[in-house]
Amino acid sequence: MHVPEKVAARLQELGAEVRRGVSLAERTSLGIGGTTDEILLRRHESIPQVMRLLADEKIPHKFLGGGTNVLVDDDELPFVVLHLPSTSPGMRVEGNSAYVDAAADLGGTVTFCAKHDLGGMEGLIGVPGSVGGALRMNAGAYGTQIGPHVREVELYRAASGEIETLRGSDISFDYRHTSFATDDVMLRVKLQLPSKPYKEILAGIKVCNEKRRSCQPLNQKSAGCIFKNPPGGSAGRMIDELALKGHRVGDAMVSDRHANFFVNVGHATCADMLQLMDDVRERVRTAYGIELENEVIVWRN
Ligand code: EPU
Repeated sequence: MHVPEKVAARLQELGAEVRRGVSLAERTSLGIGGTTDEILLRRHESIPQVMRLLADEKIPHKFLGGGTNVLVDDDELPFVVLHLPSTSPGMRVEGNSAYVDAAADLGGTVTFCAKHDLGGMEGLIGVPGSVGGALRMNAGAYGTQIGPHVREVELYRAASGEIETLRGSDISFDYRHTSFATDDVMLRVKLQLPSKPYKEILAGIKVCNEKRRSCQPLNQKSAGCIFKNPPGGSAGRMIDELALKGHRVGDAMVSDRHANFFVNVGHATCADMLQLMDDVRERVRTAYGIELENEVIVWRN
């Protein structure tokens, strides 16, 4: 979608930069997605005005964080994407609190906190993506979730059209799900973390990295696990038991390392990936009577 020149000029005045014809295949870890204009939100405080302008001009938009858990449709997209600049995001530590910009890399944040002898997030080290995305999805791995560490979140609240600060206790963090609205935009978080010596944290990080490396296809294009685990079960184990590792639709393939990772082995389209997801969902439904729910967020045209 093209942002008209006069709107782009107004956005510029609000500290938001328009980038033309951005390929979302280059912005997402799956390497799939069409093109559209991107609006870089350089000034947090003007976000409410930017949102009002887009609403007035009837320009549909979606917010893109780290792009590691999203499957985007192909071709020209009927919406623009909003993005926070991710170069040199703010991170600071005060006592046991870490104040981190949502655009920061999650792994980088774990390491930064570790260097200040703050632990508790070791399990999250290999989870790709931004802090904002981790908040929205309540990212978790190896027994750690980000939710319990959250004390405050500053965000653009779509319902009020304002920037607000929520207390951690007012947000519900469930398995890969939170009470944030789809169109809320995470801006900053205050995390409360336990003190732990750097060396001990590093040892924990090493264990998690090794576990992850041993069973996940880290060097291939994926969105991490494609389905949520059903209560008490493992999507990966079921798909594996059905001997679907290596199953392909076009260049979309069930990973031969971890069956809940679907990888783009070449030039997979969104349609290929969706077809593969449907095939696998159907096989699991027939064999186990379980309906797998997407973990990946799908942006269809
Ligand atoms: N398994 C298989 N075959 C496979 C994959 C897994 O038999 O191809 C078996 C494993 O041997 C193990 C069980 O299934 O006995 C569980 O596997 P794993 O430990 O890999 O955990 P998972 O339930 O598949 C979850 C998260 C991952 C997270 C890991 C580690 C979900 C959907 N997945 O995977 O998160 O990294 O635990 O904590 O909750 C993600 O959310 O994107 C993600 C990758």
